[in-house]
Amino acid sequence: MTKIAPSILSADFVNLERDIRALGPAGADYVHVDVMDGHFVPNISIGLPVVAAIKKISPLPLDVHLMIDRPIRYVERFCQAGADILTIHVEADTEENTRKALELIRAAGVRAAISVKPKTPAEAVLPFLELCSLILVMTVEPGFGGQSFMYDMMPKLHTIRGWIDERNPGCELEVDGGIKPDTGKICRDNGANVLVAGSAYFNAADPAAFVRALKA
Ligand code: DX5
Ligand code: ZN
Repeated sequence: MTKIAPSILSADFVNLERDIRALGPAGADYVHVDVMDGHFVPNISIGLPVVAAIKKISPLPLDVHLMIDRPIRYVERFCQAGADILTIHVEADTEENTRKALELIRAAGVRAAISVKPKTPAEAVLPFLELCSLILVMTVEPGFGGQSFMYDMMPKLHTIRGWIDERNPGCELEVDGGIKPDTGKICRDNGANVLVAGSAYFNAADPAAFVRALKA
């Protein structure tokens, strides 16, 4: 079954509680929370206190996407703040530290995940495949909502789906960036089972109909 994770980067931050409480009734499965540090990506979003505040009111699991340098410094604190899935980028540190960070996340009882930017080859996930509950393939350059979907990520997605089925079948495969019903369908055909949608979800006149269209 396809899961939908609206990215609150495109929510109304003044009315964040209202927007988050509306996700479940609209049929969403996770709350996708984008954390940016202004170094790993050229944008700054939200951090630990906001994640902790969201956790208090969200009926849905928090899918926290860390776009920060050397995430090993912060993963335990994001687990404590309430992440249910915690994603770090393979490009953000050495292989050794990425592995250690994933182990810290798992030790905290949180689902560990890695993400790859568009220019990063599929092979970069291989050393971490068995440690992960989810792999996130970026379908835009991380940093901003509202960008155009990169169709050329589909071979990478398809390749990673093959490895997941062979080596860690319980692992979820998520895409993030430019997802709408048409691009979401292409991602599902290439093996994704979790679709992040930011601007398209929050701009939809009828979010429940939008979620149904993504799942159809
Ligand atoms: C981008 C973020 C995304 C973003 C997606 O760096 O990771 O989660 O909110 O936005 P859309 O769906 O508008 O491309
Ligand atoms: Zn994201």
